[in-house]
Amino acid sequence: MLSTSVLASASVLLSLAGSALAQGCGPGTLCPAATPCCSEFGFCGSGSTYCRGGCNALWSHSLTSCEPEPICQSATYDFTSPNASSLVLMNATGFNNDATRYAWTLDKGNIAWSPQGLGMILTETNGGTRLSTTRYVDYGTITASLKTGRWGGVVTAFITMSDVKDEIDWEFPGSATTQGQSNYYWLGVANYSATNGETTDGLSDTYDNFHNFTIDWQPETLQWLVDGAVVRTVQKNDTLKTDSSGTRYEYPSTPSRVQISIWPAGISSSAQGTIEWGGGMINWADPDYVANNNSFVVYVENLSIVCSSWTQPAPGAQSYIFTGNDSTGVPQIGMSNQSFISTTGSTLVALAAVVSL
Ligand SMILES: *[C@@H]1O[C@H](CO)[C@@H](O)[C@H](O)[C@H]1NC(C)=O
Ligand SMILES: *[C@@H]1O[C@H](CO)[C@@H](O)[C@H](O)[C@H]1NC(C)=O
Ligand SMILES: *[C@@H]1O[C@H](CO)[C@@H](O)[C@H](O)[C@H]1NC(C)=O
Ligand SMILES: *[C@@H]1O[C@H](CO)[C@@H](O)[C@H](O)[C@H]1NC(C)=O
Ligand SMILES: *[C@@H]1O[C@H](CO)[C@@H](O)[C@H](O)[C@H]1NC(C)=O
Ligand SMILES: *[C@@H]1O[C@H](CO)[C@@H](O)[C@H](O)[C@H]1NC(C)=O
Ligand SMILES: *[C@@H]1O[C@H](CO)[C@@H](O)[C@H](O)[C@H]1NC(C)=O
Ligand SMILES: *[C@@H]1O[C@H](CO)[C@@H](O)[C@H](O)[C@H]1NC(C)=O
Ligand SMILES: *[C@@H]1O[C@H](CO)[C@@H](O)[C@H](O)[C@H]1NC(C)=O
Repeated sequence: MLSTSVLASASVLLSLAGSALAQGCGPGTLCPAATPCCSEFGFCGSGSTYCRGGCNALWSHSLTSCEPEPICQSATYDFTSPNASSLVLMNATGFNNDATRYAWTLDKGNIAWSPQGLGMILTETNGGTRLSTTRYVDYGTITASLKTGRWGGVVTAFITMSDVKDEIDWEFPGSATTQGQSNYYWLGVANYSATNGETTDGLSDTYDNFHNFTIDWQPETLQWLVDGAVVRTVQKNDTLKTDSSGTRYEYPSTPSRVQISIWPAGISSSAQGTIEWGGGMINWADPDYVANNNSFVVYVENLSIVCSSWTQPAPGAQSYIFTGNDSTGVPQIGMSNQSFISTTGSTLVALAAVVSL
């Protein structure tokens, strides 16, 4: 399920916070020079809230309007550690993009720390919870040990999401606690009649038991694993598509943040298909919810990232940048030694030492 639709409430907030005249951006509608950055939610603005994490280079004023994306660094985040809270920036508004300081941002919602790890909370009023890594992965192996919800309409998700909306998902809709769903999107193109989504069944109860869910994203092959066993493989070669604008591999290839979330699919503002996919309308009188201080909580125990050897950074490389499209309309990525720490409000200086992958 495309996660962008999920945060509609956040987009409303951003548009109001920005300006009554906040301009929209999207395919073919680029931002003006004065408000050059196209935010994750499709609004033009300036400053780090618009220009860092989620800023869409393809829809911004120029390919270099967004801040550079902090380069991949292999790491394991143990959310059961007493020190784990120091990994997460709780209020990402105005964050200067210093990925050396925080590994994660809390983008919206509420979290709680417990012996089971990071608890992500959904309440009737908070609209769900999402965290993102501050660094990006451009191919890599990402594993999360997590427990899902068991409530109709409540979705637990562990995904990669690029700023131009390449997306790879593990999602756990509603009450289907023996299943996980794998999916992927290329540049946010959703074709619900195509079979990009698949269900893996037969897992031991995902509410009661931690499982290791892996996204193994490599340049030629994308695999999903459960507890170390491959449950699905997509070859880049299988994603060749032809339409009126040409022939190309519609395969995720752009630097992506890792995101973990709990979100409400089963609410009246969702599309009917989303409600059904998520397992129906949420029951806010569920005994788990009531017994837990009116909260649905799911847990992430730990999460590890192994950057792909395919994209080992050149010496001195700090960030990923967009360098343009190839002739088939696939965005091209370079590595740059440009710092990713923002100097809010100032225009980014010319790129140095761009290295093609
Ligand atoms: C706690 O985390 C901070 C920031 O990551 C780190 O500098 C510090 O060494 C950690 N302390 C312990 C005891 O692990
Ligand atoms: C988050 O930070 C912004 C900017 O510093 C501030 O305006 C806002 O009130 C903060 N929000 C919270 C919930 O602390
Ligand atoms: C969506 O996918 C189906 C099945 O692969 C295909 O027949 C159809 O042409 C696709 N539609 C678009 C708009 O790409
Ligand atoms: C998850 O992976 C870790 C490390 O490989 C392993 O120790 C653990 O047993 C795995 N958990 C499950 C449920 O397979
Ligand atoms: C993908 O297809 C191309 C063209 O047919 C071929 O040269 C290449 O070896 C294939 N790659 C893989 C990994 O199968
Ligand atoms: C219960 O939830 C409220 C708001 O959702 C929160 O402010 C409060 O700290 C929670 N209490 C406990 C004991 O977790
Ligand atoms: C995650 O936690 C499980 C259970 O404690 C452990 O077996 C596994 O090694 C951990 N994985 C990582 C990557 O730390
Ligand atoms: C690159 O291609 C994407 C879609 O394939 C398109 O949305 C975008 O406008 C293109 N950008 C440039 C600079 O050509
Ligand atoms: C980046 O690379 C360029 C060209 O090699 C070099 O001149 C510049 O000093 C480097 N900048 C940093 C911050 O390393």
